[in-house]
Amino acid sequence: MIIQPRTRGFICLTAHPEGALQTVKNQIEYIKSKGKIANGPKKVLVIGASTGFGIASRIAAAFGSDAATIGVFFEKPSSEGKLGTAGWYNSAAFEQEAHKAGLYAKSINGDAFSDEIKQQTIDLIQKDLGQVDLVVYSLASPRRTHPKTGVAHASVLKPIGAPFTNKTVDFHTGAVTDITIAPVENDDDISNTVAVMGGEDWKFWMEDLKNAGVLADGVKTVAYSYIGPELTFPIYRNGTIGQAKNDLEESVKHINEMLKDLNGKAYVSVNKALVTQSSSAIPVVPLYISLLFKAMKEKGTHEGTIEQMQRLFAERLYTEDENVPLDENGRIRIDDWEMAEDVQAEVAKNWDKVTTENLSEISDIEGYRRDFFNLFGFEIDGVDYEKDTNEDVKVPSIA
Ligand code: NAI
Ligand code: NA
Repeated sequence: MIIQPRTRGFICLTAHPEGALQTVKNQIEYIKSKGKIANGPKKVLVIGASTGFGIASRIAAAFGSDAATIGVFFEKPSSEGKLGTAGWYNSAAFEQEAHKAGLYAKSINGDAFSDEIKQQTIDLIQKDLGQVDLVVYSLASPRRTHPKTGVAHASVLKPIGAPFTNKTVDFHTGAVTDITIAPVENDDDISNTVAVMGGEDWKFWMEDLKNAGVLADGVKTVAYSYIGPELTFPIYRNGTIGQAKNDLEESVKHINEMLKDLNGKAYVSVNKALVTQSSSAIPVVPLYISLLFKAMKEKGTHEGTIEQMQRLFAERLYTEDENVPLDENGRIRIDDWEMAEDVQAEVAKNWDKVTTENLSEISDIEGYRRDFFNLFGFEIDGVDYEKDTNEDVKVPSIA
């Protein structure tokens, strides 16, 4: 069929398999161009492996250090006449390219929050790899059914304490308007968001993997966080999602304690703000990202998910001297270039000025928009979108 983008707000309802394949190939080429990662991981589990930072982590591990990878994700498969999701097509492309390169790659499609999927993953590790030496935790989800209580938690993106009014952009139309977001009405909004995006599920994963004996001596695990500038604090770091990130960062201590006898280490990496399916859902943030990209591209420090993950692996987690650089709170920082003073000063200056009229001149709204469509395999160079495309693409290990 001919596949075109069809959007509803900040979601895209269609995805293009050949665009996804080309995107994955481009990411692989980038990783290869940077050379092998010394002391890199060899057997890797990526939880949340199909889009955003997760697929980029999987590609960095596989093509940067020849790692065998197991990827867990929650995607809609394609079938005859019905499109799969972007993450499905990404994963199909990844496995195909990994297998071509002689790398082990298998995937599990299901709810990573459940005990069943954890057990399936453990069984697969035992059968095929024995143990893993890196666990990447890159889930982003609006809901989680708690495996022990059965309670369905829904996360919210709200400020805490007071309403938050600021500028936001509709990146389809380029309209810059003021938005007021009402604060949480009760603590349930906070506890539910923490239940979905906090550290409990990461702890559950690490406990189950450890108890099953599938973590190698010296294992590392990393989960992703975000801080960002003060202008987004009310909606991000001081809002409900920020409470979840505090909880995630706090859980590092517990996991480190648990991994001690394996000489293992847990890390949180604070990553750069990027266009992903998750971040496009947050009000105010896309306008910030558009101004940020403009400033970073001008300075030559702009990165996408794959550049970020290459730097995380090569210059943080697996350095030559095996020393992992951390901030004063024990976190890895690959948001360092985003948070650079000159970049933030430029963004702050333009934040005050930005309007619908000057948006395309002082921000990189066009880059934001393109990145958004790229997530779904659209607007990728070298792909013929007028051509009939086979929508039914298998993930080889799932078939
Ligand atoms: P994403 O939406 O691109 O990826 C989410 C992944 O989780 C996908 O692979 C999806 O299939 C999987 N997933 C969701 N629910 C699942 C479930 N129930 N079971 C199994 N898999 C499930 O998100 P993104 O942006 O890559 O986020 C990953 C992490 O990075 C999150 O912790 C996010 O907060 C963090 N982060 C994101 C930043 C951004 O600007 N996008 C910046 C810094 C950190
Ligand atoms: Na991800």
